[in-house]
Amino acid sequence: MSKTIVITGGAGFIGSHVVRLFVTKYPSYQIVNLDALTYAGNLENIRDIEKSPNYNFEKQNILDVEGLDALFAKYNPDGVIHLAAESHVDRSIVSPLDFVYTNVIGTVNLLNAAKKAWQGSFQDRRFYHVSTDEVYGALGQTGFFTESTRYDPHSPYSASKAASDHFVRAYHDTYSLPIVLSNCSNNYGPYHFPEKLIPLFINNIIQKKPLPVYGDGLYTRDWLFVKDHALAIDLVFHQGKPGETYNIGGFNEWKNIELVKLLCKLMDEKLGNSPGTSEKLITYVKDRPGHDRRYAIDATKISSELGWKPSVTFEQGLGLTIDWYLENTEWLKHVTSGEYQQYYTKQYQS
Ligand code: NAD
Ligand code: DAU
Repeated sequence: MSKTIVITGGAGFIGSHVVRLFVTKYPSYQIVNLDALTYAGNLENIRDIEKSPNYNFEKQNILDVEGLDALFAKYNPDGVIHLAAESHVDRSIVSPLDFVYTNVIGTVNLLNAAKKAWQGSFQDRRFYHVSTDEVYGALGQTGFFTESTRYDPHSPYSASKAASDHFVRAYHDTYSLPIVLSNCSNNYGPYHFPEKLIPLFINNIIQKKPLPVYGDGLYTRDWLFVKDHALAIDLVFHQGKPGETYNIGGFNEWKNIELVKLLCKLMDEKLGNSPGTSEKLITYVKDRPGHDRRYAIDATKISSELGWKPSVTFEQGLGLTIDWYLENTEWLKHVTSGEYQQYYTKQYQS
């Protein structure tokens, strides 16, 4: 069956994996990658599929209402998978308004564009909003986030994602827009921008630079290989029930310091360093304000209803990720030049 799907944020980390999966798995679909190409968007992330006949790129900001209307008129999409966002918690602490604009207003603009273009014919349409487990706030030492956990965001990033989730559900309840949502845990893998923990530390180990661990390093995250997230998005898009939410996570919790030590060990092996070399780079630095202590997803619903489960173990995924970064030093060089240097100095200066 042929479909046209707009994927927003397809030049970013997760979006590029979703675009690649859909372009290659569904040759009868037309895939439209809508992306403003901010500092986090990079066409090098999808270079390998950009010549595919079912791939289209539109440089478009979701804050531009007329541009969105024109794009919907041009493609008449059957579905939207919305990943475009400001995604880094530390940047949200410095510039919260950027997150309100893109994550909240941009999402409402996209909802309006879909509602307007699809008016009267919601049959076989789908608006899929990709969200995060951070909307649920922080867990204590036990328990998991389920789909019914109360929202309790603590950072400007998670507050903006929470607001966007509420708008998406409101458009379902008020206008019957056929929406579906998922809230996922921390992703890692190829094309991850090196402002986030794992790629930042891989890059710093390569550069022999300090590894800045926030606070006591005992914060816990639940890590999922990005390709497994993309596979879950495929399932939710095609088989998720309208109006429903699905939590996605790897049942794979790591305290930051334990993860960093594993990363150091694997990097030393790959680089031929003597054991313990990279661990010496670990430096405890001042904590992130409002830092959530622990995230952990209960992914029972997506697993029992849609049959999803992660395809790789953490050690396998981390190994694949490290290999990718070691083989793609040019990509790393490109994304860490320019604006990145200023960001890095400001973020880690004290
Ligand atoms: P990313 O920062 O790597 O990519 C974001 C993309 O959105 C970039 O290509 C950027 O150019 C584009 N973009 C930003 N502002 C835009 C605008 N105003 N108009 C159009 N495009 C714009 O993000 P990511 O890590 O790939 O995350 C993608 C989505 O998944 C986000 O919605 C994020 O909240 C969610 N998410 C991320 C994770 C994670 O671990 N990275 C986990 C769960 C959910
Ligand atoms: O949980 C899903 C979320 O995961 C996504 O919604 C976000 O878009 C994504 O950025 C990620 O958020 P985190 O804040 O958890 O990821 P980050 O890689 O920034 O940090 C992971 C942990 O590592 C967190 O406890 C903070 C810590 N950290 C991070 C950096 C960048 C450090 O100790 N030092 C660092 O330099």
